[in-house]
Amino acid sequence: MVFQAGERLHLGAEAEVWAGTWLGRPAVRKQRRTRAWRHPDLDHRLGHRRMMSEARLMVRMHRAGIAVPALYDLDPSAGIMVMQHMPGRPLIDVLRDDGLPASFKQTALASTGAAIRNVHRLAITHGDLSTNNVLINEDGHATLIDFGLAAVDYEVERFGIDLHVVDEILGASHPDIDGAIEALLAGYTAEEERQGPPMEQTGGAVPTASEVLQRLENVRTRVRYHG
Ligand SMILES: Nc1ncnc2c1ncn2[C@@H]1O[C@H](COP(=O)(O)OP(=O)(O)OP(=O)(O)O)[C@@H](O)[C@H]1O
Ligand SMILES: [Mg+2]
Repeated sequence: MVFQAGERLHLGAEAEVWAGTWLGRPAVRKQRRTRAWRHPDLDHRLGHRRMMSEARLMVRMHRAGIAVPALYDLDPSAGIMVMQHMPGRPLIDVLRDDGLPASFKQTALASTGAAIRNVHRLAITHGDLSTNNVLINEDGHATLIDFGLAAVDYEVERFGIDLHVVDEILGASHPDIDGAIEALLAGYTAEEERQGPPMEQTGGAVPTASEVLQRLENVRTRVRYHG
């Protein structure tokens, strides 16, 4: 592998991420970490499957022209993935930065909504939409990362859950930002209006933006009544 490591960006429970270069290009290496409490065989199988699925979906999205990191190299047995280093900072940092104007945060949120809709239009649900998994560049443009829990789906439920997860996180972690979820959902809808109805995918019709928003309301109601 021709990755040359620079600095470590992240050490989490599931992965260690290093910035560096790959054939001279800015890259990151994501190394899956073994989970001591899981049986080694099971851990290996789960990790292998997750990384294969993550890589496959990233390639599919990249080919469809949406802004996700390009995949440069993959060694699933070793639990290693090398990909394009996306410029920017996690949305969580942007929203917490007191030095940034409110208008920039609104732009970042709307762009996040558009990025989510672009992934959804390919019948892909993200599965882990925390504000750590969205990178915002200096123009306020959003890129989604971390597709380890993403899945192809055609039922509206998982699409609605994706938005509900962001809704809960924005409410819990960034309650000081007025209209955060509204800005994000406006971006989600605007992207669909800009592009027209979603194209049919190999598994059939993809839920439209308005169907997903209706499901979000439905999920919110269910959560309100049943905790
Ligand atoms: N392609 C990329 N470009 C720039 N930064 C990245 C990229 N991929 C990952 N990162 C950085 O590394 C962090 C962790 O990566 P990622 O979210 O993919 O791992 P993870 O599966 O969440 O790991 P864990 O579950 O252990 O926290 C990201 O939040 C981001 O800051
Ligand atoms: Mg992550």
